[in-house]
Amino acid sequence: MARSVAFWNIIAGHYSRQPIADEAGYQHKLALTQQHLRSDMRVLEFGCGTGSTALIHAPHVAHIDAIDYSRKMIAIAKAKAQAANVGNITFEVSTIEQWPEARGQYDVILGLSILHLLEDKSAVLAKVRRLIKPDGLFISSSACLAGMSGVAKFLLPIGGALRLLPKLDIFSAAELTADIARAGFVIDHLWQPAPDKAAFVMARAV
Ligand SMILES: C[S@@+](CC[C@H](N)C(=O)[O-])C[C@H]1O[C@@H](n2cnc3c(N)ncnc32)[C@H](O)[C@@H]1O
Repeated sequence: MARSVAFWNIIAGHYSRQPIADEAGYQHKLALTQQHLRSDMRVLEFGCGTGSTALIHAPHVAHIDAIDYSRKMIAIAKAKAQAANVGNITFEVSTIEQWPEARGQYDVILGLSILHLLEDKSAVLAKVRRLIKPDGLFISSSACLAGMSGVAKFLLPIGGALRLLPKLDIFSAAELTADIARAGFVIDHLWQPAPDKAAFVMARAV
């Protein structure tokens, strides 16, 4: 994990300046998410990166705990929140694996572009289930490398094996939704516009 943390710390500044690759898709995911947000809700976002998504959702909920294991990502996120005068997000450096369950349960948990980066996705999904209130919503967006065509499918894992990139978990959207369901959720919504696009999943805790 230390190697992956170092990777994200090194690229945090560059990551924060990158334009969104698919703006229309991003806006669609924000709109789908906001259909389920209410002003009294408590939200957790893990792997929040530089906080862009948390900052967009913040006006629609009571509070967001936004965590990332990269201190550089969190430093940028905190600066953005201060500049935007947003006061209802607590940005903290933490892995999702070490986030204390004593901090309580959430109405909504977001895990965006992170499930394919985890060392033990099943363990994290089980933890997310414990952290979410009954009937609460887990919202994720994940690269499904099993559905990718072309060289990226082969080069990305090689980059991980050569220790140039974080190690990637390769799964299909069907495998992902099955894993999420096994953790104690029903899949409310799956949106994957093409096999090589991220799978956006909204899953309700049962
Ligand atoms: C691809 S970036 C996505 C950032 C943001 N969610 C977004 O959609 O732009 C993945 C982020 O997850 C963080 N991360 C990866 N594994 C993590 C873990 N186990 N716990 C907390 N953060 C993690 C990385 O530091 C990085 O900021």
